[in-house]
Amino acid sequence: MTARTQPQLLLARRFPAAARPAPELDRRSLLTAGATSASGLAVFLVIVLTGGTPTSLGHFAYVPIVIAAYRAGARGGVLAALAGALMLGPAMSLVDPRSDFGLPWLVRGVAFVGVGGIVGWLFDRGRSATVAWRAAAVRASEEHQGAMTALAAAAEAKDPTTGDHLYRCRDLAGALAAEAGLGPDAVADVAWSAMLHDIGKLWVPDQVLVKPGPLEAGEWELVRQHPLRGSEILEGAPSLETARRIARWHHENLDGTGYPDGLRGAAIPLEARIVRVVDAWDAMANDRPYRPAVELGRAMQELRDGAGAQFDPELVALFLAMVESGRLPLFGAAEWL
Ligand SMILES: [Fe+2]
Repeated sequence: MTARTQPQLLLARRFPAAARPAPELDRRSLLTAGATSASGLAVFLVIVLTGGTPTSLGHFAYVPIVIAAYRAGARGGVLAALAGALMLGPAMSLVDPRSDFGLPWLVRGVAFVGVGGIVGWLFDRGRSATVAWRAAAVRASEEHQGAMTALAAAAEAKDPTTGDHLYRCRDLAGALAAEAGLGPDAVADVAWSAMLHDIGKLWVPDQVLVKPGPLEAGEWELVRQHPLRGSEILEGAPSLETARRIARWHHENLDGTGYPDGLRGAAIPLEARIVRVVDAWDAMANDRPYRPAVELGRAMQELRDGAGAQFDPELVALFLAMVESGRLPLFGAAEWL
């Protein structure tokens, strides 16, 4: 999937810097920058006026101080600074036993503690902002998934004969997407979006949807419209773009004989090809009011027979490998294995 088609939430999760505007260079920022420069100059003057730095040893202490500040925040930075300051005096006198290090040692110690505390405080602030941002992203993601589930449940409520079909489709689609090599964000996106593949059935009259006998030609035509209707319901919501693509093209066949657009091969989005396989599998794997679940070997053979015609052969191979190795989320098919 391209970044263009990813839901915005996932984009924000992956590229946080791109999801917020660059900070403005306002008066407050300029004052802060000026004050920082002035305080740096003041520290420099204090060091010069108190005799300067007799040796360059002290500069090395900033490395562990900054590392400690990064690892343990302000407290870690200050503790490392104090330890560095305590060791600096004896170290300086080893280098040049004739010099008087009293005042430079004190000034350098204060500088250590200041740097350790400020850098650690900045790291602490960055960390707590990251934690808050992550929590907000998780909350937004959960709300998004909750809304998708509610929407999908509305569609399934019209056809209660399918049981937990949408939840099984979610887990099977996620498993197959992961097997196909998609990353964690894309897997979650495909899995949750798969729940909405039949949302267009909201438009199909109830008497057609749950009709016990064979459908008339006109009724069948209504059912065949559900991918287009689903796409119409979901369009206009950028965060549901993957779901829209699945809803529209989950009945396309690889050889171009599917509907509604007769797409062929790779022109069918990967997420729709994934749902094509798992939707067919789940329909066979579970009892329906008008027929029992298909026997395991026959269901596997149906997928093999449809590979290259209805289904993407590579996805079928991956899916069947999961079935054979027992790595598939099972649900209604649990008694088969
Ligand atoms: Fe469908």
